[in-house]
Amino acid sequence: LFSDGRSSDGQVQRWMRGGSSLVLRRIRMTLDTWEQIDRTSRELSVGRTLDTGAPLTGTAEGDPADFEAVDEVGLPVIPPESHMARARQRNRGEAMLRRPYNYDDPPERGEISNSGLIFAAYMADPVRTYVPVQQRLAEQDALNTWTIPIGSAVFTLPPGAPEGGYVGQGLFEG
Ligand code: HEM
Repeated sequence: LFSDGRSSDGQVQRWMRGGSSLVLRRIRMTLDTWEQIDRTSRELSVGRTLDTGAPLTGTAEGDPADFEAVDEVGLPVIPPESHMARARQRNRGEAMLRRPYNYDDPPERGEISNSGLIFAAYMADPVRTYVPVQQRLAEQDALNTWTIPIGSAVFTLPPGAPEGGYVGQGLFEG
């Protein structure tokens, strides 16, 4: 997940070699309507069980998901429009490290709630990795019914400081 210093347009940025990019998004969740639907509907929207986090085709969180499995009437056990089916990594280039944080702020005037997710993901190249995943979710994701993106930013994280040096030093070297 560390950059080789090459951006998606093929340009080499030596100071970025060994660094990463951070995609940060504030995504509000309309939890009041999310809580109105029953547990099964919530699980079908995500593609995982709410208690163990296992895929709907498994029993433990780490079990691989079976997107081909169908139930007794022939419907997919993990719906193709579920968040998991849409977001899952389709190739090595889409590997990212996710570290989301929940927020629950006091509601503003007239609001019932003001909570959601600060979605944080680290990767070598956001254009190669993040954009295709986000495009799939924008096209279709059962969770979109309950999410409202508020803001989004991409940060560049330079590699660690060299011995005796400082973070970002490579930026000032020729
Ligand atoms: C409020 C917004 C979101 C919520 C509530 C949410 C929730 C979840 C949950 C519950 C899971 C399954 C458990 C886990 O693996 O962590 C998951 C998986 C995942 N999410 Fe999200 N997510 C949100 C936004 C996003 C966004 C914006 C992206 C990236 C574009 C994303 C990418 C992923 C990926 C890649 C997985 C792993 C899928 C797999 O199991 O292979 N999510 N998310």
